[in-house]
Amino acid sequence: MKILITGGAGFIGTNFIRYLISKYNYTIVNLDKLTYAGNLDNLKEIKENVNYNFIEGDITDRGLLHEIFEKYSIEVVINFAAESHVDRSIEDPSKFLNTNTLGTQALLDTSLKFWGNRKGVNGFGNPNVKFIQISTDEVYGTLGREGFFSENSLIQPSSPYSASKASADLLVSAYNKTYGLPINITRCSNNYGPYQLPEKLIPMIIQQAQTKNKIPIYGDGNQIRDWLHVDDHCQAIDRVLHNGRIGETYNIGGNNEEKNINLVYKILDELRIKEDLVEFVSDRPGHDYRYAIDNTKINRELGWEPSFTFQEGLKHTINWYLNNQDWTKELKFE
Ligand SMILES: NC(=O)c1ccc[n+]([C@@H]2O[C@H](COP(=O)([O-])OP(=O)(O)OC[C@H]3O[C@@H](n4cnc5c(N)ncnc54)[C@H](O)[C@@H]3O)[C@@H](O)[C@H]2O)c1
Repeated sequence: MKILITGGAGFIGTNFIRYLISKYNYTIVNLDKLTYAGNLDNLKEIKENVNYNFIEGDITDRGLLHEIFEKYSIEVVINFAAESHVDRSIEDPSKFLNTNTLGTQALLDTSLKFWGNRKGVNGFGNPNVKFIQISTDEVYGTLGREGFFSENSLIQPSSPYSASKASADLLVSAYNKTYGLPINITRCSNNYGPYQLPEKLIPMIIQQAQTKNKIPIYGDGNQIRDWLHVDDHCQAIDRVLHNGRIGETYNIGGNNEEKNINLVYKILDELRIKEDLVEFVSDRPGHDYRYAIDNTKINRELGWEPSFTFQEGLKHTINWYLNNQDWTKELKFE
């Protein structure tokens, strides 16, 4: 299989490429713009692997996409590339629309051009071709205290980030309905694990705690997130890649709901830090209260369920950050 992975130098993309290389003999092309969030050091052990190819570039560059599809006869696209930080999207939404929405459209158009024609004409002769859009549960907006997001929940994004991802999802789905492009969309909850930048909650808490600095927490800290270990996410994408029914969306959650404030205390506890380093700061505008995923569909159809409990996953992640402090020190991002 010849797979184009976009955004493979970021957090989840890195973990997924490492996972694929360890399990399969597929050709992997990693296209990444290397924004502040992309880090080739994450993949240094596999850069000489014969199945691995890296190309620095932008998913909105249609000329480059054409060259890549032609040179590598791409059969599968897995689109991880994105501007992914909600706070940054509030400061400057344009970049988010450009990469997350228009970049996805450029990938869709190129896939369509190379894999087939309009529905019914020439068809999609190669049964292996597929476009997988890595999306987020944030497209559903917020939950109250009760209930879960299913694949049929309304799309009601709250931030420019989630709106740009929701727009991309709608395009992916429309390209399936209009042109017959074989697609899957995956919508996962908050990921955590190795190689995540400390601008995101869990590595930020670990970093601040280790250096005994204040840990800024939005509002009252009672927002609830469902935490998914990135290894479990990689296994779920693997199932979708090989067995996902064409045209379908799959939600992927960790079954690990936690209040942000409790998360801080769990991490402080794990690090055996007694001081209360929490500093409550003004809430994020449009901050969603609760995300929680109903995994029924992916469990029933593809036999996937998360393997990490939150306690195990958190321990594993904290240990990784403690054992890889050079990785964090060498990061250059603002
Ligand atoms: N991290 C999470 O908790 C989470 C949860 C749900 C969904 N997602 C989705 O998963 C995907 C990956 O998230 P992540 O946390 O790994 O993000 P990340 O910010 O760590 O990595 C994004 C990667 O995309 C690259 N990139 C950005 N713009 C690009 C462009 N125009 N062209 C090519 N490459 C570009 C960056 O250089 C970086 O390597 C995203 O689509 C995100 O929306 C993430």
